[in-house]
Amino acid sequence: MNIKEFTNNKVIDESKQGQATVIKNDSENYTKSLYIESYGCQMNFSDSEVVASILSKEGYATTKNIDQADVVLINTCSVRENAEQRVRNRLQEFKKRKKDNPGLVVGILGCMAERLKHSLLEEEKLVDLVAGPDAYRDLPNLIVTVDGGQKAVNVLLSREETYADISPVRLDQGGVSAFVSITRGCDNMCSFCVVPFTRGRERSRDPETILKECKELFEQNYREVTLLGQNVDSYRWNLDSNGSPKDGHIESVNFHQLLEKVALIHPDLRIRFSTSHPKDMTDDVIQIMTKYKNICPYIHLPVQSGDTEMLEKMNRGYSREWYLERIESIRRIYPNCAISTDIISGFCGETEEQHQQTLSLMKEVHFDFAYMFMYSERPKTLAERKYADDVPIETKNRRLTEIIELQNKHSLESNQKQIGQIHEVLIEGLSKKSSDYLCGRNGRNSMLVFPKLKGLEKGMYVQVKINSCTSATLLGEIVL
Ligand code: SAH
Ligand code: SF4
Ligand code: F3S
Repeated sequence: MNIKEFTNNKVIDESKQGQATVIKNDSENYTKSLYIESYGCQMNFSDSEVVASILSKEGYATTKNIDQADVVLINTCSVRENAEQRVRNRLQEFKKRKKDNPGLVVGILGCMAERLKHSLLEEEKLVDLVAGPDAYRDLPNLIVTVDGGQKAVNVLLSREETYADISPVRLDQGGVSAFVSITRGCDNMCSFCVVPFTRGRERSRDPETILKECKELFEQNYREVTLLGQNVDSYRWNLDSNGSPKDGHIESVNFHQLLEKVALIHPDLRIRFSTSHPKDMTDDVIQIMTKYKNICPYIHLPVQSGDTEMLEKMNRGYSREWYLERIESIRRIYPNCAISTDIISGFCGETEEQHQQTLSLMKEVHFDFAYMFMYSERPKTLAERKYADDVPIETKNRRLTEIIELQNKHSLESNQKQIGQIHEVLIEGLSKKSSDYLCGRNGRNSMLVFPKLKGLEKGMYVQVKINSCTSATLLGEIVL
């Protein structure tokens, strides 16, 4: 089953949720230890690296061992109820830890911190410190306040903060793939979604700082960057809301122009991006992808539902027909491009026919991969205020199972089609199951596993012939 209940991300798998961020202690100036655990989307994992960077300047080295920590931070997600429940359970464990070690500072970051604010301190008494996604520069002060015996909160959202000048300390030192945030926040207000409330208004990051970060990553031997935003297609720098250059600005940049600039850094630096929005993704983006071999042929284009009335209720800004037209454009301009999606089952008032529309859209598009979720009502959202969450849980569940079963069939078929082909793969390391095998992704974002050959290591590109597959993995051998 492919249910990723805790993430919308396309790279971090379930096993990495809740993993500690670890940074090598490469300075003697570190005097204190920070343990930081991340949940949720790629943006949160990327933010944890910003947090580690801010606190490293204050003398904090990160540790994998929670027993050694002076400060424990948990970077949280609110997207679905069960994501929050998992964090609450973890906080109870931290609370026990604090009983044995009263000096320990426990803090909550991210979307749940923003959503629940003071209540985590006052009613629930779970933590000492609460910092929302735009308040991380204030963490050193907040920790000092806690050390002084008080509780500390900063949940102010900003219209400007992009942490543009902060060079994130990488979670995966010596890794090959890194996340680079290009926008923060979201202005879309899909009716089911809590993100606009937890992340605030959308803002784009200065392209110069994005390019600088990507160049530095390449110099540090990273070979893949994923440009992150809740809606990357609405990236705009010095453009007004109609997409025209703002007065007095010579250099304006939109998303496809940014993609091109990043692609030009080096042909050996692969570029991915997430998430594309069907209402905003232009043909220019697809055209630029075909122009540069190092922009991966993969688009994540969440549909949510195959029914126009449901999409309207979800406030997604497109119809079934519009979505299918976007898919047609991708197929026409870039036939080999892989496409994945997100789907929600059992949104407010969803009828059996409307559910069938989702299945029929899936059959029409034949997604290579999908992240599938049961609708979970979120406080403050338009859907919570306006519509009844009236699809019984058993029905939501049954519909989700039907969606997952259909997608598994499509994923397998999409993998089977690749058998016999030779794909370029960026080696990520040893296969999880056997040290005699290596693993890595092709441009289409499929995971390939193949026997190890001498002299090969992570970060290298190899040509792999695909011999067989499961619905999740392609198996092959290196061809020289
Ligand atoms: N910005 C991205 C997605 C962010 S959230 C986009 O617009 O596509 C990631 C995914 O979680 C969404 O695509 C949606 O499928 C799912 N999701 C969001 N809110 C949800 C909710 N209340 N219940 C169930 N799934 C939800
Ligand atoms: Fe949520 Fe919609 Fe924004 Fe995505 S585009 S983060 S689903 S409001
Ligand atoms: Fe979750 Fe916040 Fe990301 S709600 S999906 S961590 S933006």
